[in-house]
Parts: sequence; C-alpha cells; structure tokens
Amino acid sequence: MIDFCGLQLDHPIVNGSGTFDAIAARRAFGDALLADFPFSAFVSKTITLAPRAGNPPPRLWEAPAGMINSIGLPNRGLQGYLEHDLPQLAELPVALITNVMGSTVDEVAQLVEAVGARDEVAAIELNVSCPNVETGLDIGADPLSLAALVRAVRPLARKPLIVKLTPNTADVAAVAVAAESEGADAVSLVNTLRAMALDPHGGGAWLGGGAGGLSGPAIRNVALAQVAAVARRVSIPIIAMGGVAAGSHANDLLCVGAALVAVGTENFRDPCAGSRIAAELKSLQIAGSPSSSMNAS
Ligand SMILES: Cc1cc2nc3c(=O)[nH]c(=O)nc-3n(C[C@H](O)[C@H](O)[C@H](O)COP(=O)(O)O)c2cc1C
Repeated sequence: MIDFCGLQLDHPIVNGSGTFDAIAARRAFGDALLADFPFSAFVSKTITLAPRAGNPPPRLWEAPAGMINSIGLPNRGLQGYLEHDLPQLAELPVALITNVMGSTVDEVAQLVEAVGARDEVAAIELNVSCPNVETGLDIGADPLSLAALVRAVRPLARKPLIVKLTPNTADVAAVAVAAESEGADAVSLVNTLRAMALDPHGGGAWLGGGAGGLSGPAIRNVALAQVAAVARRVSIPIIAMGGVAAGSHANDLLCVGAALVAVGTENFRDPCAGSRIAAELKSLQIAGSPSSSMNAS
C-alpha cells in the first residue's frame, strides 16, 4: 500500500488525465474492467465550468515517437459531470481524482468547491498547464499567478489539491515551489509540450486548433529532467508522467523523486498498459534494479 495524500493506493501507477476513458472502457470491456482495473487511482479528464465542444478537427498528428494532440478539452461541463459522469466513475474500484480547469480564479473556485463537496471524489487535480487553451497556460507558467490562484482556491477544496504543472515555462521548479507555498498537497507533471505540425499538402497548420501538445516517448527525458528539478525543490509528493511505456520508465521517475507515476499516451496503444507497467515495476523493485538502489541510498 502507498499512502498518497491520505489515499491508500495498491501500487504507484495511475492514468494521465484525458488519456483513458473509463466510462467508454467499461462499455467495451464490461465488468472485467473493474475486476482488473489498470490503475491504483483514476484521474478524470479535465472538466470546465461550462460545457466545451473542443477544437475543430483534425485533432491528432502522429509525430516520431509520440503524438501531438489538439483536443481542446471537450467535456459536459460541471453540471454534466456531476450528473452524468460522476455516478459512473464512482463505481470504479479505485479512488477518483477529478481534474478541473477554469479561465479565471472565480471559475476555478466554483469548480473546486463543487467537486470537493462530493464524497465520490477523493482528490482534485487542478490543470493549469493545458497548451490547448490559452488561459491555463498563462496561469501555470508564472509563479506569481499560480500562487494567487492556489491561495484563493485552496481553502475551498476540502480534498487533497494536486496542481498539474505545465512544462512550457522557463523554470518549472519555481512554479512548483509557488504551488507548494500556497498549500498545494501535491504537484503533477508533465503536461504536454507545446508543438505544431504543418499540413503535408500545404495550407498551414495541420491541427484544427493550430498548435497542440506533444506527448509520448518523445518527451520522456524532458519529463525526467523536469521531475528531478521539481523534486529537488519541493517536499510535497509528485505524480510524474511523460512518455511512460514500461516499468523501467516508471522506475526512473520514482528514482528521481516521484511518489506516483501516470501513464498517458501509452493507454491509446494498449488499454491494459497500466496493469502491465505496474507488474513490470513490481518485478524490477523485487529484483532490486540499479535505479531502485539509487533511490534507497
Ligand atoms: C489525447 C490527450 C488528451 C489529454 N487530455 C488532458 C486533459 O484533459 N487534462 C490534462 O490535465 N491533461 C491532459 N493530457 C495530458 C496527459 O495527461 C499527460 O500529462 C501528457 O500526455 C504526458 O504524458 P504521456 O507522455 O504519458 O502521454 C492529455 C494528453 C493526451 C495525449
């Protein structure tokens, strides 16, 4: 068992927000999904106050060793989430972490207060780092703006508050320190790296949203460096992610100071990736891999 902000988790592998649709997976796999759920906690995709349609297509671009997405956070909005999604997510056999994002302090405050009031929700992840939506980027890239946001909403949260950082900033550790100093219970990183692709047939940007976010193996070593930098500066727990596709990748992130590891893009290739990576990690830890012994020293 792992204690993460008071949540008791079976293993350190969770999902990255927006990369595993548990409701659709339940429809596809039935109760078999619940019997062998791939993650030790489930992180919802980002919800916003009002419903969002998301960005116009195309929304994906396959990059060497990764992908660029410009999904644009389509979601039912807060009320739709509470009425439609939450009852279904509450049936999952693991703790639920609800990811929220707002474009003003007031919007975030409403989201955090409403979600934190629900018993089904074990913790809140605050997305301040999505490169697809202009507002989140600015708050999460600047330590002072982020500090002001966390200061305003932390007292309303009633649940552990995880701040999901953006990698698209000059000094990610400075932003993490700002979140910690205003009462964040944990930080998570990395979100996607701002990227774009051109239409091979001409005519400008391929993605309907213009730019997007790069994820997958291509960002793995960027994530490792950013997690290590943050771990040196904060003492709150870290959920680390970015290109994790095997137990050894998760082990590396734990080795530089993460408490939990999230699997994102790999879920699209293999919906059972969470279970596989958790098992691979366990074998490595039992065998006492070089990384594990570094961690212990
Ligand atoms: C298709 C897609 C959708 C995503 N949606 C969200 C989201 O709704 N909220 C969020 O905080 N992060 C979102 N992310 C970012 C992931 O949670 C994760 O931080 C990022 O992809 C890096 O991990 P990875 O390389 O393992 O995918 C999304 C990523 C992808 C690829």
